[in-house]
Amino acid sequence: MQKLTIAVAKGRLQTEALDLLARAGLSVSSEMLASRRLAVEDESGRFRFIFVKPGDVPVYVEHGIADCGVVGRDVLLESEADVLQPLTLGIGRCRMVVAAPSDMPLSGYRVLRVATKYPRVTARHFGLRGLSVEIIPLSGSVEVAPLLGLADCIVDLVETGRTLRDNGLVIVEVIAESTARLVINRASYQLKAEAVAHLIDSLSEIVAQGDVISSETTP
Ligand code: PRP
Repeated sequence: MQKLTIAVAKGRLQTEALDLLARAGLSVSSEMLASRRLAVEDESGRFRFIFVKPGDVPVYVEHGIADCGVVGRDVLLESEADVLQPLTLGIGRCRMVVAAPSDMPLSGYRVLRVATKYPRVTARHFGLRGLSVEIIPLSGSVEVAPLLGLADCIVDLVETGRTLRDNGLVIVEVIAESTARLVINRASYQLKAEAVAHLIDSLSEIVAQGDVISSETTP
């Protein structure tokens, strides 16, 4: 069967993604994992993993550098990459929300200042509501922005809710539910059909066993 390259989002999703892939028979040796190598082969030699920033997974897959990828739906909502999304994996469950300081309701603003790592989703969300917003793009630690007066509210991910709580923020609105997805390059889907179908089948089986039925909502 043809060799597949799989882009895996580094960070909080990585361990869960590698566990899921290992259960589907794609495992990387502990020696490889302990190294800082960003491109490694699995033990069978049939798969190559590349570990990249979450936002870059759809880019590598769209350009065909990776045949497949594992990445959160939040990233796909923000990305404009043209990739296939055949499978919801049920790992990395979180919500994308609008959050604001608990003592400051979101009304009476002429132009709302919104800090976020998701400028496109944010523009779409407030645009649909006809609200004027100034989007302040940040690359992390977004929850601190209202505290410091940089923004009136944020659009960000919530998993346990702890970061919001510890920074005095509350959820105003849920924009979308998110879990990780398997994404596939369009050409690989045709040209490496057998290997891709085999991967989708193996992962589907594991996902079904794990009772990880998604309850994602579309924004
Ligand atoms: C994510 C997210 C929130 C936090 C939510 O950030 O952007 O900040 O996790 O998790 P919680 O609800 O369990 O507290 P991440 O840790 O990826 O770091 P970043 O803010 O630097 O992007």
